[in-house]
Amino acid sequence: MHRRQFVLGALGAGASAGSALAFPRAGSRACSTAAIPFGAAIRVDLLRDDPDYRRAVLAHCQLLVGEGGLKWFDLRPAADRFVFDHPDRLIAFAEANGLKMRGHTLAWYAGMPKWTETITTRQEAERALYEHIDTVVGRYKGRIPSWDVVNEAISDNPAIQKPMRPSLWQDLIGTRHVELALRRTAAVDPKVQLVLNDFGFENPTLQCRAKRAAFLRLVKDLKDRDAPLHAIGLQGHLPGEQEIDREGLSRFVAELHGMGLAILVTELDVIDDKLPADTVIRDEIVASRARSFLQAIGDVCRPEAVLTWGLSDRHTWVPIWFSRKDKMPNRPLPLDANYQPKPFMQVIKDFTRATS
Ligand code: XIL
Repeated sequence: MHRRQFVLGALGAGASAGSALAFPRAGSRACSTAAIPFGAAIRVDLLRDDPDYRRAVLAHCQLLVGEGGLKWFDLRPAADRFVFDHPDRLIAFAEANGLKMRGHTLAWYAGMPKWTETITTRQEAERALYEHIDTVVGRYKGRIPSWDVVNEAISDNPAIQKPMRPSLWQDLIGTRHVELALRRTAAVDPKVQLVLNDFGFENPTLQCRAKRAAFLRLVKDLKDRDAPLHAIGLQGHLPGEQEIDREGLSRFVAELHGMGLAILVTELDVIDDKLPADTVIRDEIVASRARSFLQAIGDVCRPEAVLTWGLSDRHTWVPIWFSRKDKMPNRPLPLDANYQPKPFMQVIKDFTRATS
């Protein structure tokens, strides 16, 4: 047996089609068999500066999300200032090329400008949140049809931490900040798709099980309150060294689908810092993790969109937090650093094509 087959077999990363686990097609949502739009998180400066990047985006993407630009840190240099040039440029590029946009993100714990530390009461926090949503969602009404309204609201590990992640919003308003943000966004743009976006649901670990349970409790509470919520964003930042919990993830998706929620894959990449150095083996494992993740979702209901967090290994956030000890470049994305398709891109093409 060649080393490559051995490693892939040992990691359970075979290219198996995987038996579709029989899950009830729950919920009131129809599951589409149409082609699934694919897109990526984009850096607007690279569209201007790197023609190969621009060509790759136009060749592969039907929808875009700003990797930055619509986060508080980018938009809000001061309490009384909004800076829209980056999102304006990205949306203009998308519209000029017939691409759809996603908005990311209105309420998050991270990426908050320093001046927001002056917000110290519940009343001030609600006012700041509402002003932000009114201004940003209002500006792009009809041009951004889907928003990550609240991002990463659940703590990293509810098995040992409080279920809700600390943030300006959670600390001052409490868990109700999620409902308030959803309702305000719906009030500004009644047609926009309202999404809760989070990560860490995919592996057969106590931490992932606890995170799935905490997220489901939050969503059920929102649905019990008739909060406007249309879809769940599964970020999909997959630890490459960990297998996908096919059954656990499918059950999680079936529960969400059963509540009438659509599923979006919003930030897919495979974090390869602990994978073998051999790039052929590493690319195969990356592709296999992505395939297993997508199939676990598709076994219940095909997602409405699949986006990766970046398109090419040349520009990825992964080394910020997960650089390799051997100093080799990370390879988390569907295109290599020369914008050439890797096995991961074939997984995406196979998964997103129409099934009937
Ligand atoms: C990341 C960006 O990719 C980085 O460039 C930035 O420095 C930090 O944020 N989950 C999210 C994204 O929802 O907004 C994060 O994006 C990656 C993790």
